[in-house]
Amino acid sequence: MTNALATALPRVDDQDLIDRIIGEQDGRPGALLSILEKLQDANRHKYLPMETLEYVALRTGIPQSRVYAVASFYALFNLEPQGTHTVAICRGTACHTRGSRDLLERVKLQLGLSASEGADKTSLTTPDRRFTIRTVACFGQCALAPVAELDHAIRGHVSEQALIREVEQLRKDAGR
Ligand code: FES
Repeated sequence: MTNALATALPRVDDQDLIDRIIGEQDGRPGALLSILEKLQDANRHKYLPMETLEYVALRTGIPQSRVYAVASFYALFNLEPQGTHTVAICRGTACHTRGSRDLLERVKLQLGLSASEGADKTSLTTPDRRFTIRTVACFGQCALAPVAELDHAIRGHVSEQALIREVEQLRKDAGR
């Protein structure tokens, strides 16, 4: 690494880990996506901090605007810290017509997030970082509408009561 580059690099935690991940993917097709995916996986709060994106840009020579565009385009990447548990509610047409907005608002209420809070956001995390509520455009399971996902387990024909019960159980588990 040149001195000029070393001086320009933003301070990031786990610099060795990031260097190793970048080194492993060097020159491979789709390297940027793989790098970002592995970095997010390795992050304790499952997200890509801005300093990390800047670091990746400088180390790989990929323009910062491109790194940021990729990280913000794919729903798989998070630009904010995520909660321990994730509740994803589908807001596609089939799920919307079967009441997914009410499911979303009910879970927000249950977790102490006001109805208007994050109304224009697709991802919202509780202040204690126990839960992230996300909206998804479509899970590809429209016949099961309304669909929700709790910690990566898909639930179909979700009722408000069933969803509240499951979230409550996760909340109890998280409090242990
Ligand atoms: S619209 Fe909800 S799964 Fe397709």
